[in-house]
This record gives sequence, structure tokens and C-alpha cells, in this order.
Amino acid sequence: MNRQTFQGLALALMIGASATALNAQALAQTLAPATAAPADQPWLNAGLDPDTRADLVLKAMTQDEKLTLVFGYFGADMKPKYTRIDGSLPGSAGYVKGVPRLGIPAQWQTDAGVGVATQGSAKEMRERTALPSGLATTATWNPELAFKGGAMIGSEARNSGFNVMLAGGVNLTREPRNGRNFEYGGEDPLLAGAMVGAQIKGIQSNHIISTVKHYALNNQETGRFVVSSNIGDAEARTSDLLAFQIAIETSDPHSVMCAYNRVNSVYACENDWLLNTVLKKDWGYKGYVMSDWGAVHSGSRAVNAGLDQESAGQAFDKQDFLGDVLKADLASGAVSTARLDDMVRRITRALFASGVVDHPVKIAPIDYAANGAVTQADAEEAMVLLKNAGGLLPLAKTAKTIAVIGAHADVGVLSGGGSSQVYPVGGRAVQGLLPATWPGPVIYYPSSPLKALQARFPNAKTTYLDGTDAAAAAKLAASSDLAIVFADQWTTESEDAPSLSLPRDQDATIAAIAAANAKTVVVLETGGPVTMPWLDKVGAVLAAWYPGTRGGEAIARVLTGEVDASGRLPVTFPRSEAQLPRPKLDGDPKTPDVKFDVDYAIEGAAVGYKWFDLKKIEPLFPFGYGLSYTRFAYSDLKAQTQDGVVTVSFAIKNVGDRPGKDVPQVYVSPKAGGWEAPKRLGGFHKVALAPGASTTVSLTVDPRLLSVWDGKAHGWSIAAGDYEVTLGASSRSTAATATVTLQAQALPASPIAK
Ligand code: BGC
Repeated sequence: MNRQTFQGLALALMIGASATALNAQALAQTLAPATAAPADQPWLNAGLDPDTRADLVLKAMTQDEKLTLVFGYFGADMKPKYTRIDGSLPGSAGYVKGVPRLGIPAQWQTDAGVGVATQGSAKEMRERTALPSGLATTATWNPELAFKGGAMIGSEARNSGFNVMLAGGVNLTREPRNGRNFEYGGEDPLLAGAMVGAQIKGIQSNHIISTVKHYALNNQETGRFVVSSNIGDAEARTSDLLAFQIAIETSDPHSVMCAYNRVNSVYACENDWLLNTVLKKDWGYKGYVMSDWGAVHSGSRAVNAGLDQESAGQAFDKQDFLGDVLKADLASGAVSTARLDDMVRRITRALFASGVVDHPVKIAPIDYAANGAVTQADAEEAMVLLKNAGGLLPLAKTAKTIAVIGAHADVGVLSGGGSSQVYPVGGRAVQGLLPATWPGPVIYYPSSPLKALQARFPNAKTTYLDGTDAAAAAKLAASSDLAIVFADQWTTESEDAPSLSLPRDQDATIAAIAAANAKTVVVLETGGPVTMPWLDKVGAVLAAWYPGTRGGEAIARVLTGEVDASGRLPVTFPRSEAQLPRPKLDGDPKTPDVKFDVDYAIEGAAVGYKWFDLKKIEPLFPFGYGLSYTRFAYSDLKAQTQDGVVTVSFAIKNVGDRPGKDVPQVYVSPKAGGWEAPKRLGGFHKVALAPGASTTVSLTVDPRLLSVWDGKAHGWSIAAGDYEVTLGASSRSTAATATVTLQAQALPASPIAK
């Protein structure tokens, strides 16, 4: 039985939306901290390095204790099939027993990237702070904010009793219809790796473990348990794998979650090339590989290929592969004791290195007001102003009548579905939406854009319509000074968007409203890119993604110009599906168990804007694009190379009359060609400038972004020649160019590999 079926069973038990608070006292007992370090337990000495500590504790373990650490349980009830075991935290993603005799704590695991999520029934629900979607945070192009957001959700995880957070999704947007794009970091390996890495670093600053996931090439939900992502070694290493590599180098996540899908016909969690060769050998990764929930299909095959821990095995896998099966494999010699030791060493090392052992988690109160400010700051910088004809935004305070239409903007903002779903503090803004069970429920957070706008226009008449009657909406717009239309698209784990069009005929509604009033502002709450057949007719468009717990307030602040619009697109917005490498998505949701292939050789490493550049296709909005309420001028671009390292510097000035933030971007391209696409993002830096102020920015280009993967040499290789360095405000704008000449250079597979 697969994840959907199990989850469906569990969630079908949900009764309404009311949440029962968890009994903190009872739980505190299950979270008993590791005891002090007795002389005969030297691994509990925090002064020793994690490798030594792992070696020491390993020597003290029996085989059964070792096996305890490599097998996980689901943390929620899925009756009648599965009952949560004692010690796990109710409504959680997972639980791995500890070894109390040796002071090794249990692992309490929670999803995920936007905050502490809930699995299972309403009884077990936790209400927590949600960040904007991962894609939204990436749209800030501000790693500092990503770190702060990670630190905040990590603290909520810790204060909820969790010491493992399953956050850090870095799968590239190869498929803009992928239902989980909202959880990830967009289409570029540098941007995604830097942003998701910063978030993981923030999470782990709480002395807990974070994962990076879903390793790898897990780029669509259709057929996710069976699909094979087929791609060449070099193409993978310069695209999806590079995003993982950069995220891992940035943040040292203590765990990597292997994915559901197959890669070149082999399941990701038993893929020797992915796990042993690339991750552990080439990149020198010292953490442990945990499986996704239901992603294990074998015992010795998976273990010998590099899998270190089976997650929620009894609930989701066909057998207890890293339980009974592994025990038998050890007895028969199919798995060596040395390999089991390696698995346990990796897991215990992570527990020591993260601080999980030395700083035991404890349930504690959460400061929702402070955490709300963190998510709001993230949301405000995430919004991308896509169009602003005639300076329609920021909204003029002179408006007397304002029509606010659609997407439940009277009460809340949308969030994305699936295992990462965070239930909002204060309950859901809208009840009774379908699907109510997995992959639902569909949840709007109770942060009303309408109320936030009304507070800012106390003398205007604001009228809300739900937008289901296009004619009524158009009539209201015609009699209003301005119309603000909210349009949304719910996307979720386990299914892809059927197309890039907004659902529920919202395109027609927007077109009707725009025909009635040229002063129409469209606010989009979507999981990723959507098409906009009405674009020419509307005055302004703001991409707000899924903006999180304080989304309504953040939207109002950007619309009114209290803060600048400073998000930039982390993904290309295509004009239509016809522009994509796969105009039709592969696989068939009706036959989820039938294996099939997706041919990533079509675009190879040319993901997103690289594909559009390569094929000379004009997108609707290019990667990196976004307007500000002020204007910036770039000058003094200099690019130089020293000892083979390229550094770029330039000046940026706010030449407008408002404070603002900008994201100057540097793209690199070899004059002789030879890459997967004409250019790659080489660096970026977010700057905040007062009117008239200027600053100088210096960037170093990661040498891998100037290289190709050389399979024969098993390393990176820079070709000798001239390289163009372009400075611009998006992947399609050029403010200045410079040239650097590089010598031929060979680089190792990873700077951190030993
Ligand atoms: C998802 C993971 C998640 C896990 C635990 C899986 O279905 O793919 O992202 O961490 O469940 O809930």
C-alpha cells in the first residue's frame, strides 16, 4: 500500500478542524534527556570530537542496539493498519528509538520546510508558525532571511520536542507543474543550494538535525513511487546534484533523505551511484542517509548501496528491511558488520555533531508573536512585483472605493498541501474545503489581506466578493476606484498541477474584472509559475506565492509600499506548456503503480532559464526578474581572476526617491560555448539602499559554475579561454559586461571530500 492510501486512512479519521493541545507534561517524560557523563561513558564527554564519540559509543553497543538506531517508526496512528508506538510524539512524521543505557536519545522527527507539521488525526494536531513556501523564501534571494526562518521553525521543532526536522527540499524546478515545487528552492543550483542551505543552517542552529531532501531528481509527483528520472552523470552533476552539493557544503545537514523515485532505473534509496559514489565518496558526506517514507524496496541491496536508516518502515514499507531482514542479512553475511558499524557511526556522529545528545530537547512555550514577525519579514521580501503599469502600485491613498475579490482574501491566505502542511495557530480560516483528507486538507491561514488593507484605508469603502460570479465581480470593479483580485492555485505533495493555468476559471474572472476597470491589481497565491492570458489587460501583478502565517499583513504592506517589492523570480514563468522540455507531463495519475521513464536527456543540465536561453524562447517572465518601487543603477563592473578564482565587483545606486532593495545578478558564459546553455548564474547579492545611497558589491564565482564535469578525470574542468561576465537585474537583462580570461584548470569532485 502506498503513502497516499495510508495517509488517506489516517486523515479520514479527522473530525472537523478543532485541535486538542498536546499534553506537554506527559510528553516531557518521553523526552527524558541523556544523563550526565559517567567515567565509563566517555562518548558523553562534549569536549571530544563527534567522530571519536561515535567510535567510542559504537564499541559499547550490542548488535541489537545498533539495529535499534537504523530502523524508524511512523509517529502517527494509521488505524486499523498501524498504531503509533509508545515514545513517539503523537501526530509526528517519525520516531527512532534511542539506547537509554548508553545515553543515546530517541530521534523524534517532524516535517518540514515551512514549520512544524502535523500528521494524522485532528486529535494529534499541532498549531504552529508557518513560513512562506520554500519557493517564496527563495524568491527573497536573501540567505540571511532563510537562515532566520530556519532558526525560527527549528526552535519551534525543538520546543515541540523534536530533534530531527525533515526540512531542506532542494529538488530543482525541472517541471513547473510539479506539485511540490512550493517546498523547494527553484530552478538554479546556486540559488537553490545557497537558500536551502541557509535555511538548514538556521534549523540546525537549534542543536537539532535537519535533512536535505529528496535525493535526488525527484522532480514530479505523478508516478512518484515508480518513475525513473533518466539522465547522464555529467548532466546530473551540473544541475540537480550541484544544488544538493552546494546546500550540503553551505549547511552540513546531518542527514540526507533519499527519494521515492528511481534514477536511471534504480530506486534512489538503493542507488549505489547516488549514495555511495556521489554523496559519500565524491562529496565526502559524513552524515547518514534516511529513506523517504515508503521508499525502501530491499534489505541488503539498499544497505550495501548506502542507505543508513529506514524511516517509518512498518507503516510504509513492504517489510522491515532494516529490521528483521537486516538482522538475517547480517547473519548470512549479505551485509557485513563493518557496514552496520558504518551506518551506526554515521547516525551517532550526527547525534553528537548536531548537539542532540548534549542539548536534549524539551517541550517549552513558543513565542508566536516573535515568530510571526520572522515569517512576515520573509513573506514581505518574497513577493515579486511582475507588472506595474503607470505606477498603479503602491496603492494611492486617495482611493475611495476598493473592490477586493477572490481567493478567500476576506479571511486568509492559502498554504500548500501534503506532509509539510503546518496547521495554523488560531485554526483554519475556511472550513469544509475539499480534499478534506490526504493530500488535503486545504488550509487557508487566518491572516486576512482584506482586513489588513481596510486598516490602511480607514476612509475608503472596501467591498469583498468571493469571485465565483465573474459578472458580479466585474460589476463591482466597474463601480470601484480600483480592483484587487486575488487568484490562487492549491498545489500539493502527491499530485502535479494539471496545467500551468489558474484553476476554477479564474482567468476568465480576472479578464472580466480587468475589462471593467483598468486599475486592476492581481495578487497571485500559487505554488509556482502560472500562465496569465489576461496580463496585457491588468494594471499590476504581484506574485505572493503561499505567504505563510502573516501573509495577509505582508501582502498589504507590499501593496501599499510600506516595504519595497523586492522579491525576484526563482523560476521562469513560461508563456505556455508548449515552451517546456516536456509539453505533456510524463506518467498517468490513474496508473500510479506502472513504471515509466522521464527522459531528462532532453534538457540535460539546461534547467529553467538555461533551457529558454538555449532554445531562444521568450518566456512570460524570466528567472531573476522582479520590479521595485524605486530604481537602481549599476556601474563599475570589474571582473578579475587570481589563482584561477574569478571575482566580480560593481557599484549599485538607488537612483529613485524611495528606499528599496535590489538583487543584482551576475551571469557567466564561455565565449567559445560548450556548456549546457549559453549562461549560468554565477553570483547574486541582495542590497538595501536609501534613496541616493550607493554601495559596492564583490562576489566570488564558485569555480564549478565555470566548469564542466569531466567523467574521465572524475572531477571538474575549466576550459581555457575568454568568459563573459554579465551584470543585470534578471537573467534577461544586461546592465554591463566584462571579460575574464581563464587558464585550463582541473578541480576535484568536491572541495570538502577527503
Ligand atoms: C515525504 C517527505 C516527508 C515524509 C514524512 C513523505 O511522503 O515525501 O518529504 O518528510 O513523507 O512525512
